[in-house]
Amino acid sequence: MSNQVLSAISERRSVRGYKPDPVTDEQLGIMLRAAQESPSARNEQPWHFTVVRNKEIIREVNEEANKNLGDDHGDIFYDAPAVIFISAERGWKWSKLDSGIAVTNIALAAHSLGLGSVILGLPDAAFNGPRENYFNKLLKFPENYEFAVAIAIGAPNTTKEAHPIKPGKIAYVN
Ligand SMILES: Cc1cc2nc3c(=O)[nH]c(=O)nc-3n(C[C@H](O)[C@H](O)[C@H](O)COP(=O)(O)O)c2cc1C
Repeated sequence: MSNQVLSAISERRSVRGYKPDPVTDEQLGIMLRAAQESPSARNEQPWHFTVVRNKEIIREVNEEANKNLGDDHGDIFYDAPAVIFISAERGWKWSKLDSGIAVTNIALAAHSLGLGSVILGLPDAAFNGPRENYFNKLLKFPENYEFAVAIAIGAPNTTKEAHPIKPGKIAYVN
């Protein structure tokens, strides 16, 4: 059994190398629409999307994250031409899960447009360190929102195999 949705899910990979070609406004609009069409608990839509194509800002977040992580992870954004930072409303138990669903839709939409992406948790270190307030403001997180996850996007310059599927992760209770 195959169809376009199943093919996109199956073909998507984390892309950790990008061509410099810019991600266009139209492509971003399509991905952000897909993100906002995601389901969310009680339809709260407790997410916010910050699009960054400014290399200097991405570099600044990378530097802070690496500083707070304590060891050098190199470029945690893989020199991607665009990064979307998703922040989530504080104090609502489903905010980060809903943001995770939204980031999956972005990854699948990116793939459907011929773009690559990688979902990123490491930038969290920039938003939970001593300069948390500065970085929350720099990235225009709304008041009472916190970093949930990010996604780097661009034309892929690398390929990788599908991840191996761990066994023993399914039970049927009949
Ligand atoms: C919540 C989350 C956080 C992740 N954080 C990072 C990250 O900071 N850096 C990175 O290179 N990959 C990150 N990944 C990508 C995973 O390593 C990747 O999805 C996994 O190895 C499976 O590979 P695949 O995406 O190619 O199927 C993250 C994925 C998820 C879902």
